[in-house]
Amino acid sequence: KPVVGLVGWRGMVGSVLMQRMQEEKDFAHIEPVYFSTSNAGGDAPTFGGISSGEKLQDASNIDALKKMDIILTCQGGDYTKEVYPKLRAAGWNGHWIDAASALRMADDAVIVLDPVNRSVIDSALAKGGKNWIGGNCTVSLMLMGLGGLFEHKLIDWVSSMTYQAASGAGAQNMRELIAQMGTIHASVADLLDDPKSAILEIDRKVAETIRSDAFPKKNFRNTPLAGSLIPWIDVPVEHGQSKEEWKGGAECNKILGNPAFRSAGSIPIDGLCVRIGAMRCHSQALTIKLKKDVPLDEVNDILAKANDWVKVVPNDREISERDLTPAAVTGTLTVPVGRLHKMAMGDDYLAAFTCGDQLLWGAAEPLRRMLRILVE
Ligand code: HSE
Repeated sequence: KPVVGLVGWRGMVGSVLMQRMQEEKDFAHIEPVYFSTSNAGGDAPTFGGISSGEKLQDASNIDALKKMDIILTCQGGDYTKEVYPKLRAAGWNGHWIDAASALRMADDAVIVLDPVNRSVIDSALAKGGKNWIGGNCTVSLMLMGLGGLFEHKLIDWVSSMTYQAASGAGAQNMRELIAQMGTIHASVADLLDDPKSAILEIDRKVAETIRSDAFPKKNFRNTPLAGSLIPWIDVPVEHGQSKEEWKGGAECNKILGNPAFRSAGSIPIDGLCVRIGAMRCHSQALTIKLKKDVPLDEVNDILAKANDWVKVVPNDREISERDLTPAAVTGTLTVPVGRLHKMAMGDDYLAAFTCGDQLLWGAAEPLRRMLRILVE
């Protein structure tokens, strides 16, 4: 069995990955070796009932890492930047599977999302490719939802306006969002209990609480999220875009094997990325310019057949309220896409809304599936 070094398995994405690997019995196909950046020498865990039979290895020990056939890391970009070049410089020729963005745009790396780009993965494998990087969560979720339209080359351009969950910012941000909700409630609990209290009095107190220095918001760069939103994700880049917005165009085109974003033959993909108070599901409202007027029933059919996880939700109020929300989707691999209708701009303009779990298809799932592709 291939020896697989696991790094960053204790964090949020890593924990979701370990859970999914147990559910899918991935551990039966590998010999796991657990690495740690902080607790080398401690006891290794026994995911999938299989123990590596060893103590935790030091995640910065190049000689130990060099013994691995495959390394799968969710440790983050700083770790990748520190360790990966040293490992390759030391002559290591194994497969590197990584959740972090550090190597994503490198020429010798494939952004893995096999239900959408298995052919890109296979052709890189045939050419001796060794670097397999998970995509940005929003990008992967959009492609899982809209994959069929891309596959049939029906898309001229896409504008994606996002509604991104706290989990994308990190575990501490999820905690802080809940703390914010609790703080808001506590500030008006007595008024809420009194059915005769004035709503504008409640609203005034809530606004005061959200704006106060004492409101817990340090993880969100001192910006309140609960009862509000944050219209900027990640650092600024060029053209007035944030990095999260840039990834939409850059990574989508790379995943699909297209020419580079903003160059001839690539698909323009752009929009605004917004943080909202959802826990771990990212949603996106999409304006899609089709290359031709494709009838809606054909659009439904193409979307639904693209992969096993996308679910077309009829453009119906009750069904959309029930099935097309973060509350409905969280913790599942289903990627619903709905609100499908032709727009007032013309019959080749399609509106769509999609939602998906940011920690599953947005992070852990493409990595564990890439591992399976390599070990089977
Ligand atoms: N950058 C994403 C976000 C998460 O902030 O929501 C990881 O892809």
